[in-house]
Amino acid sequence: MTATISPLIAGNWKMNGTRASLDELSALAGMLTSGAAPRAIVVICPPATIVAAAARQGAPSGIVVGGQDCHVEVSGAYTGDIAAGMLADAGAQYVIVGHSERRSGHGETDEQIRMKAIAAIGAGLKPIICIGETEAQREAGDAEAVVASQLAGSVPDAAENHEVNIAYEPIWAIGTGRTPSNEDIAAMHAFIRQKLVDRFGEKGLSIRILYGGSLKPQNAREILSIENVNGGLVGGASLLASDFYTIISAV
Ligand code: 13P
Repeated sequence: MTATISPLIAGNWKMNGTRASLDELSALAGMLTSGAAPRAIVVICPPATIVAAAARQGAPSGIVVGGQDCHVEVSGAYTGDIAAGMLADAGAQYVIVGHSERRSGHGETDEQIRMKAIAAIGAGLKPIICIGETEAQREAGDAEAVVASQLAGSVPDAAENHEVNIAYEPIWAIGTGRTPSNEDIAAMHAFIRQKLVDRFGEKGLSIRILYGGSLKPQNAREILSIENVNGGLVGGASLLASDFYTIISAV
């Protein structure tokens, strides 16, 4: 963990959760307020339908809420889409953009993701921009090239003047129980840091780089202590308050 960056642990609930899931949020709030204050900023990204309720419920215990995607436009004829300003209006402070599941399932391009991040910043949200290679790309030795190109394409100019978070999520580690070795995580995070410094100068040193992909209670302490890992983006293990709390406490 880089000392100057406040760590952040975000839970991405993906398409899981109804109002009943807010009980899990209450349980997490109880754990967070009964023990020592968490060192990390704690973010939950629930489905859009419960963003407002989660934001209300999380506020007293310091849990902040994020969306899982936003549209590039402020408003308009985009049936089913959600504007960044709507998430902000519902109480969100963060928004995930460019998750690999949206890149693959919805054909999102780096350019669209960059526009989404710009829209998020414009609405006062803090984007969490996801990048990461496939297993085939890693095996072909292309992981760094892929990540470099995603960084160049999806991170907006002037990112250094706002709170922008990068989440490195190797696609083959998402939901599989597999993770890169600690050395590989360290190497990729150092590579991302260097790219951010090359582009944004000294301010690139304070952009948060999260790790995501099978981050679990069992491996959180090890992974979150790697240099340039400034927190985590957690999928499955964020759905259960006790697991998520263990990860938060590992910071
Ligand atoms: P898992 O933690 O379930 O592997 O998911 C990671 C992820 O995609 C978070 O955005």
